[in-house]
Amino acid sequence: MQTASSFRQRYSSAQGKSPQRCLCGGMLLIVALFLGAFRVQAAQSQTLESIHYDAANRVFRLDAADITYVVGINQQDQVQTLYWGKRLASTDRFPQAVAEKGIASFDLPVNTTPQEYVAWGGGLYVEPDLKVTCADGNRDLVLRYDSYSIAAGELQVRLRDIAREIYVTLHYSIDAHTGIVRRLAVIENRTTSALVLEQAAAATWNLPAGSNYRLRYLAGRWAAEWGVQVQPVLAGKTVLESRRGTTGHQNNPWFAIDNMRNSDSEHGDTWFGALAWSGSWQIAVEQDPLRQVRVTGGYNPFDFGYTLQPGQSLETPAFYGGYSASGIGGASRLLHRFEVDNLMPGAPQPKLRPIVYNSWEATEFAVDEAGQIKLAERAARIGVERFVVDDGWFGQRNRDSAGLGDWSVNKQKFPHGLKPLIDRVHQLGMDFGLWVEPEMVNPDSDLYRAHPDWVLNFSGRPRSELRHQLVLNLARADVRAYVFRALDQLLTENQIAFFKWDYNRNWSEPGWPSVPLDQQKSVYVDFIRNYYSILDELRKKHPDVEIESCSGGGGRVDLGVLRYVDEFWTSDNTDAFDRLKIQNGFTYAYAPAVMAAWVTDSPTWVNHRSLSIDYRFLSSMQGVLGVGADLRKWDEADLAAAARMIAKYKAIRTTVQRGDLYRLLGDENAPGAIVNEFSARDGSQTVVFAFLHSSQEQYPYPRIYLQALDPVAIYDVEVIDGSLASGTPAQASGSYWMQRGLDLQLQGDFQAAGILLRRVPAGASPSSSSLQ
Ligand code: GLA
Repeated sequence: MQTASSFRQRYSSAQGKSPQRCLCGGMLLIVALFLGAFRVQAAQSQTLESIHYDAANRVFRLDAADITYVVGINQQDQVQTLYWGKRLASTDRFPQAVAEKGIASFDLPVNTTPQEYVAWGGGLYVEPDLKVTCADGNRDLVLRYDSYSIAAGELQVRLRDIAREIYVTLHYSIDAHTGIVRRLAVIENRTTSALVLEQAAAATWNLPAGSNYRLRYLAGRWAAEWGVQVQPVLAGKTVLESRRGTTGHQNNPWFAIDNMRNSDSEHGDTWFGALAWSGSWQIAVEQDPLRQVRVTGGYNPFDFGYTLQPGQSLETPAFYGGYSASGIGGASRLLHRFEVDNLMPGAPQPKLRPIVYNSWEATEFAVDEAGQIKLAERAARIGVERFVVDDGWFGQRNRDSAGLGDWSVNKQKFPHGLKPLIDRVHQLGMDFGLWVEPEMVNPDSDLYRAHPDWVLNFSGRPRSELRHQLVLNLARADVRAYVFRALDQLLTENQIAFFKWDYNRNWSEPGWPSVPLDQQKSVYVDFIRNYYSILDELRKKHPDVEIESCSGGGGRVDLGVLRYVDEFWTSDNTDAFDRLKIQNGFTYAYAPAVMAAWVTDSPTWVNHRSLSIDYRFLSSMQGVLGVGADLRKWDEADLAAAARMIAKYKAIRTTVQRGDLYRLLGDENAPGAIVNEFSARDGSQTVVFAFLHSSQEQYPYPRIYLQALDPVAIYDVEVIDGSLASGTPAQASGSYWMQRGLDLQLQGDFQAAGILLRRVPAGASPSSSSLQ
C-alpha cells in the first residue's frame, strides 16, 4: 500500500483540472493505454465499463452493462451513495450530495446519511463498517473524504479520520458484462501506535428509501443446506453470519433484496451481493430511521480483534454487489455469468466439468485396491471421465476416529501405493482424483501425537471434538508448511488430476496461545489467508490439478474460495428429490457450472425413498453430473440406463454449465411441479427439466412456457427422457414454445422428464438427433 503522500502524488496531476473530467480522453488515457492495463472508457459506451469523476459536483460514477453506480462527496466531506440501479443516460448529471438531516435530538445526521463506509464514532448507532480502539483508549473514529484515484479500471476513494492518521481506502471496480461492482476497503494505521480493529467491513450497500423491500437469503444445516428464506425488510436489523471460523452451512454469505410491489421471479428491481470470504463473516441488513436499507458486510465482528502496528494495513475481503431489473431470476443469471467468466480458475474460459465417479457412498472407509478397481471398471463402462477415491485411503483411517493428518497411503489397503490403481484408471480412459481433509487431525494420529500444540486451543482448556477431530491452526507457519508439503508430495508422486478438499467440522476454542496476546485473534484472518495461499501455490506448481471445495457437503461455498476451486460439493444429501430444493437454493447464488450432483443408490440413505434411475439422473443433470452409487450392485439394465443418460448429458453439458437458467415453475423451496430451463449462450440449444412430486385429482401436468427463445426461429423438439403430450409438433417457432407452450405426459409420483429444443439454422433441413 502506498503512503498517503504517494497516493496523492500519483493522482494529483489528474485532479481538479476541469469541472467534467472524463477518463476516456486526454493525457491520462494515453498514459494508461501505454501501460496496457487501463480499461476505463467513456460513459457513452454501452458495452465497456466506465469510471468517471465530475469534479464540479464531486460525484463519482461507474457504468457498465445495464448498471449505473453513483457516489458523491457531500459538504461535510462524507462519501455517500447517490444511485445504484438500471443504467442511466450518459448525459444525466447528479448534483452534489447533500447529507440527510438528523431526527430530533436522538439521531444525528450520521445515522441517516447513506454513507458508503462509516466508522463507529461521532454518535453512530447504525451498523458500522469499522470500529477501532487506539492505544490511548480513544475509540472514536470519524472518516472524511481525503483524495481519490482512477486507474487500471479501479476507483479508489481515500477517507481519513478527522484527527488521526488512520486511513481507509475504498476500492471500486465494475464488471463490463454484468455491471457487478466489486468493493473492498484497505484500512491503514499511519499513527505512531498500535490500533486494534474490532469490526471491519468491506462495504455498505445503500438502497433507496422504501418500505416494500423483501429479503432473500440462504440458510440450512448439514444435509439440508440452501433453503431459500424470504422475509420483508422491516425496521431493525437482520444479521446473516457465520461465527464458525469458516463459511458454514447455516447461512451463506449472499443476499438479494427486491421490491415486493414490482417484482416476480423474472421482473422487477433486485439488488444482490455476495462476500468473497471463507472465514467468519457477517452481512447486516438494516432499515435505518428514514427507511433506507443498508447492507453492511465483511469480517464477523464477533470475537474479532486485528491489531495494526504503525505502518500496517488490512485489506478486507471483496463484497460484490449487483442489480437486475429482471427479478431474482435475472439476479441469479448475472451472478452465474460473473462467476464463470470472472472468478473460476481458468476464467473467462474455465474447463467444462468432467463426469466424476466417487466411492464414498459405495465403500465409505473400506477402500482397497481390488474394490476400487472393480468400481473403476464399471464407472468407465457407463462413460465416467474421472474416478475419485474418497476417505479411507491413508494412515490408520479405518473409521472416522483415526488417521486424519497422516497423509501417507495405507499399506494394508494399497500394498504397492496408489500407482496400480491410478494406472488402471488411466487405462480405462479416466483421470484420477483423491479425497483429502488437510486442515484436520484426529487425536488418534501420528501427527497429533507429535504436535499436540498445532491445533486451535486455549491453554489448559478442553479441546472439543466433532467427528473425533480437531482443527489444525492453519494460521501457524509450521502448520501451513506441513499441509502444503503433504499435498505437494501427493501431487508430485502420483498422477492426481483432482483433489476433493474436505473440511468436516467448525471451530471451537479458537485460541492461538503461542503468539503474543495482541496477535491471537488474527487467527480469523490469517487462517483463511493461508488456506487461500496453499490453494494458490498448489495450483501454480501443479497447473493441471483441479480442486473441489467440500465441507460436509455445502459448508464452504463462497466467492472467496471460488477463485481457487473448480467446483463445490453441494450437499451430503444425495436424495434426488431433496436435491431439487437444495440445488434450487444453491443456484440463487452460485452457477450450475460449479454445483456437483451425484446419482446415488435407491432407496437413499437419507429418506429411504425409492426413485427411478431416470429421475435420479435428471435431477443430477441440472448441475455437474457425477455418480456416487455402488456400481458393483447395479444390474445390466441399470448400467445401460446410466450409460444412456451420461451420453445425453455430454450432449447438453455446455448448455447446463454455461447457459442461462430460468426457473419456469416451482416455488422458492420447490414443491409439486418444478421446471428449469437452461438456454445455451449462443441460442442453439434449450434444455428443459421437469419434475412431478405427485399427480392429484387427474389434473394434467402444468403447461410449460419457455423463455428466451428467438420468436421467429424454428426449434426442433427432442425427448431426452420422459414423454411429450400427444400431438406435440416435432418443430415449431420460438413464439409457439413461449406463447402456446409445451405439454408433457407426466403422471404418477416422483416422475421426471428432460426435453431438448434445438434451433434449426435458417434454411437447414430437419437434422438428425444430437442425443445419440
Ligand atoms: C464429508 C463429505 C462426504 C465424504 C465424507 C468422508 O462428509 O461431504 O462426501 O467425503 O466427508 O469422510
